[in-house]
Amino acid sequence: MAQHLVTFHLDDPALGAHAPLHPVHVPTGTLLTEAAHTAGVEIVQPCGGQGRCGRCAIHVTKGEVRRRSMLRLTAEDVAAGYALACQSVVEGDVSVTVPPQEKIERRLTTDRVVAEVEAPIGYDARSLQTVQRVSLLLTPPSMDDQTDDWSRLVIALRQHVNVEQVDVSLPLLRRLGSILRDSEWNATAILDTHHALRTTLLDLRPVEPPLFGLAIDIGTTTVSCWLVDLISGKVAAQAAEYNGQIARGEDVISRIIYASKNGSSAEMQALVIATINSLIAAACEKAKVDPQDIFKATIAGNSTMMHLLLDIPAASIRLAPFVTAINHVPPLKAIDLGLKINPEAAIDCLPGVASYVGADITAGVLSSGMGDAEQLTLFMDVGTNGEIALGNRDWLVTCACSAGPAFEGAGVVNGMRATRGAIEEVWINGETLEPTYRVIGNAKPRGICGSGLIALLSEMFLTGLLDKGGNLNSSLMIEEEDDLHFASPEKSASVGVSVRGKTRRVRQGEHGLEYVVAWANETWHGKDIVITYVDVDNLLRAKAAIYAGYTVLAERVGVPLESVERFLIGGAFGKYINVEKAVQIGLLPDLPWEQFQFLGNTSVKGAYLALLNRNERERITQIASRMTYIELSADNSFYEAFTSALFLPHTDLTKFPTVAQALEKN
Ligand code: FES
Repeated sequence: MAQHLVTFHLDDPALGAHAPLHPVHVPTGTLLTEAAHTAGVEIVQPCGGQGRCGRCAIHVTKGEVRRRSMLRLTAEDVAAGYALACQSVVEGDVSVTVPPQEKIERRLTTDRVVAEVEAPIGYDARSLQTVQRVSLLLTPPSMDDQTDDWSRLVIALRQHVNVEQVDVSLPLLRRLGSILRDSEWNATAILDTHHALRTTLLDLRPVEPPLFGLAIDIGTTTVSCWLVDLISGKVAAQAAEYNGQIARGEDVISRIIYASKNGSSAEMQALVIATINSLIAAACEKAKVDPQDIFKATIAGNSTMMHLLLDIPAASIRLAPFVTAINHVPPLKAIDLGLKINPEAAIDCLPGVASYVGADITAGVLSSGMGDAEQLTLFMDVGTNGEIALGNRDWLVTCACSAGPAFEGAGVVNGMRATRGAIEEVWINGETLEPTYRVIGNAKPRGICGSGLIALLSEMFLTGLLDKGGNLNSSLMIEEEDDLHFASPEKSASVGVSVRGKTRRVRQGEHGLEYVVAWANETWHGKDIVITYVDVDNLLRAKAAIYAGYTVLAERVGVPLESVERFLIGGAFGKYINVEKAVQIGLLPDLPWEQFQFLGNTSVKGAYLALLNRNERERITQIASRMTYIELSADNSFYEAFTSALFLPHTDLTKFPTVAQALEKN
């Protein structure tokens, strides 16, 4: 097949504008995204390369490409040589300029830490932990006792542990003889005893090592990792970071589509493993722990994330009848996945229920305690997917809805995770339309996190900056003639002074109308922090999907929402969301505030409980088998509920009496 030369230039001043990179030779028909990958050029593909988002646009400066789709490009864009990298194939030599890519803040966070996470009360590692240390004093071999090293070790183990069979890997077997002799036959065995009759030797050490484990939550947007002392049960360090797969799709469907392309499934696995390994390194460095002393990892995540982690084809998850390849993953070892901990470490992937209700929910239900509660409880985990469980200790039903990543800060121009520098609360003065805000860590603001976005939407709605449909009120913009009224326009611009009820903060931006939350001179990066019309649209869709999800689930089992006694919320919102404001935008139902409880990342907490306690691990399996999954995509009432909820707070204001009162007051 004919080969063509593709030369990439990066239009990024930080990297040296327009400097050509090493050209690559690719065959006819190669997608530009594939050629870029070969050339080591990163092009973000938020929709997974489906040609839907338009955010992989590049500039073809020499030669021609065949454009399969030009959606999201204007006629002027195409005439100027722009093309979608994911939809354009090479048919001759070309030069391509790649514009600055959307920056995904990959800042590792080991802050907001752990002091709050106490070891479970009464935790006893000897009875509850599956990883055990056993000190052994072996009789050395002699001319009268020529028992082989392995049998000698197993005999000694059986004197301490009730076990029929002991498994060992070949690499460890190769080191066995030298460890026994170097330690003068006085060594410590590290065992995985999760199986009643079948024990695995994880390591043999001359000196007793500390025992550490990992609780990991693989979120579609964020991966969280807790490093845990398995003896005391204490969390030694936490780290979190955006999932490295995010540039290959912002939601699970985009990821599945991307991974289904030739060779991309291994790439997706490598990306998430790289993320986890960087978190392990950060947590180990913080707690001064040797990664070789990590002997176990318990992993939770939605079903798609689990499949991509294991490089198991995930295509069936998005195609009717929507089945997973596997819900209960058998035990694995760290070396199978390339995790940079002890290679023999036991990897336990927690069980899921269905394609869209995964181990993140079974772990969340466990950590929320709803499976043991008498009260009727609604639990929802709000991340990129909204996953919902309803029930009590007698029955559990569950469903999922695609919320999108907006509340996790992705897909919002100035969105970010709830870490230092995130605006987490906003108030807007109804007269001047001037905002005040609170920033995590009292730092200069870098962006807005989920709770800040909810507060912002609510305040903008109540002050009239947004109408019921989520449209920014353009009549509040300051026009040229209004400027005549300013004595000092520079000063007024910097402080956002309003003129006759108008404000400079509403303006035309790159993405249409926007509202300026913080001026450049207040921010960490020296750029304005804004919320755009597109951001508002994304946020409304996310909240409408969540609202429709729990209302339709309750309807399907014949339970009125008012009879729900507890409303538990886990996931990206953390613990800092303002209930009043979440009700005002129609994200949460208009129930008494004391019924709401915010639990933070319930998935990683569930993984932590299962990591420490074999009984809790067993209970997660029971929860997975007890839950009845209800598929909402086949339900017309879901679509109706979704479209009715695409408003602030809802098309039917009688469902939100306290919001109606607040609007009357304003
Ligand atoms: S349009 Fe190419 S990645 Fe979305």
